[in-house]
Formats: sequence, C-alpha cells, structure tokens
Amino acid sequence: MSITVRVPAKVNVQLAVGPARPDGFHDLANVFLAVSLYDEVTVTAADELRVTCAGPDAAQVPLDRANLAARAAELLAARHGIDPRVHLHIAKDIPVAGGMAGGSADGAGALLACDALWGTGASRAELLDICAELGSDVPFSLVGGAALGTGRGEQLTPLEVGGAFHWVFAVADGGLSTPAVYREFDRLTPDAAAPAASPALLDALRTGDAKALAAALTNDLQAAALSLRPALADTLAAGVSAGALAGIVSGSGPTTAFLTQDAARAHEVAAALTASGTCRTARVATSPAAGATVLG
Ligand code: C5P
Repeated sequence: MSITVRVPAKVNVQLAVGPARPDGFHDLANVFLAVSLYDEVTVTAADELRVTCAGPDAAQVPLDRANLAARAAELLAARHGIDPRVHLHIAKDIPVAGGMAGGSADGAGALLACDALWGTGASRAELLDICAELGSDVPFSLVGGAALGTGRGEQLTPLEVGGAFHWVFAVADGGLSTPAVYREFDRLTPDAAAPAASPALLDALRTGDAKALAAALTNDLQAAALSLRPALADTLAAGVSAGALAGIVSGSGPTTAFLTQDAARAHEVAAALTASGTCRTARVATSPAAGATVLG
C-alpha cells in the first residue's frame, strides 16, 4: 500500500525579524501565504528507511537524515513505538534553491503520509508539535492557506484571504544559507525592533487587493540576502520593469517573488525574467493554496 500527500510551497508577504534570542533563533512576525507549486511525497512500506527524489532539481536534494521527510518519519515512529521501515519518494516541483520552504513541505508531507500509512491516528496538535520540532516553517506547510507565524514562526494564527493573488518566482542559481542570512541581518541591524504584523498588509490580504498587498510587501531579511548576493537586485529590477506590481526576496532567499495584477501579466513577467538572464528560471503560481493533503 502507498499513500501520497501533496504539499504547497510558500511565500512570505511580510517577514518582520526581531533581535536574536538567547536560543539563537529570532522572534518573527511572519505572514505566510501558500502558493500553487507542489511537492508530492509518496510513502510505501519497505525493508528500511529510504528516501528517493525525482524532478528537475532532484540532484540537489539530500537523501540522508538531512532530509526533513526522513526526520519526520523517524520522529513520528519514535513517538508511537514503530520501526520506520518506509520508502519515502519525493516528486519535487518546488524550486530547491531556497526561500520557498520546499524542504519543510517534504517534512510535513512525509509526516501526514506516514500517519496515514501506519494508522497512527495522531491528533492535529501532535502533528503540529512534530512539525515545529522539524523546523520553524514546517507547521505552515501542513496548514497552508495564509497564516501569521509568531515565536520563531511556528506558532500559527490562520488569516483570511479575500481573493486569488498571482505570483512569479525567479529561481536563482545556487542557494543561500538561512543561518548565514540571519547572521548578516544581525550584523546589519544591531537595534532590531520587536516584530509586529502590518495592519495594512493584513487588510490587503483580507480584501484580496493586489495593489495594496504589493505596496505592503516587506522582508526584513531582504537587505541581508542582497548583501550576501548583490546580483539579486538585478533580478528584482528586471521583474518590476517587466510589469510586476512589486518584487521581494522570498524568505531568506535567494528565490525572488513578484506579485502581478493578473494571470496574463504573471506569464509576461515570467517570460521577461527568463529572457533577462538574471535568474535560472521563472515559475508562475497563484495563492492561497491548500496545505498538506492526502491524495490517496
Ligand atoms: O527552524 P529552522 O531549522 O528552519 O531554522 C534554520 C535556521 O534559521 C536556524 O538555525 C537559525 O539560524 C535561523 N532562524 C532564526 N530565527 C527563526 C527561524 C530560523 O534565526 N525564527
């Protein structure tokens, strides 16, 4: 028997970052929006825990315990006294370069799929608890839609979204280390303020107003990502001059996200970004998207 779970990527429409905490993490006001680029995680009983991955970026995906899907299976199994003998196959469509929570998506997907395969019957609260143990972005991959993440981003409050938003994602060559981007943020922002969600941004989400959302997009990690990867400024400029309402670094980057007025404009901006030579490839997507879903 096999179980397949589909899990969305995310973009951060607001990422407000506070000072480093004693545990090394940063308090956040992190407004997550799930977007329609998906990985699918399929789990099948096997002799031992094994991870395989297929897709254009598969060569960049770790297949050992660094993979959050493997760690999710182990954590759930340990809590329920199960031997995690399972083959986890990831059909990867979420760009691997970073900033779209692709690894987190695979963790949430594997968790939900193993729960179904093993008949663990874990409560939603237990699944969210395991997600938080796996990483700050993993609970949102399970939940999807839109949510405000506080604490280190793992404490979620669902948000209302009043309409579809159309996005283009420019995928950069090579990744950016998330801890390195946070360290650069600390260096550039010695007096970081306590993070808070922007009322104007929450309003724009609630009313489905793309222009208002574009005006309210903010990412406190953007200056740090640009400092470590100055060429991302060229990608941002290319997307905006091609007709996007606004461009922003997604999470800790190096993926950049562009909000457009409608689907037709998104395809134009994607074509222009691809032709510009300032990114490896460009993908279009809409939001919000559903969280991790068992397909069967
Ligand atoms: O939680 P996760 O494993 O995704 O975090 C990866 C790294 O990102 C952490 O080790 C930390 O350096 C940084 N981080 C942070 N504050 C957060 C989330 C992540 O400093 N709220």
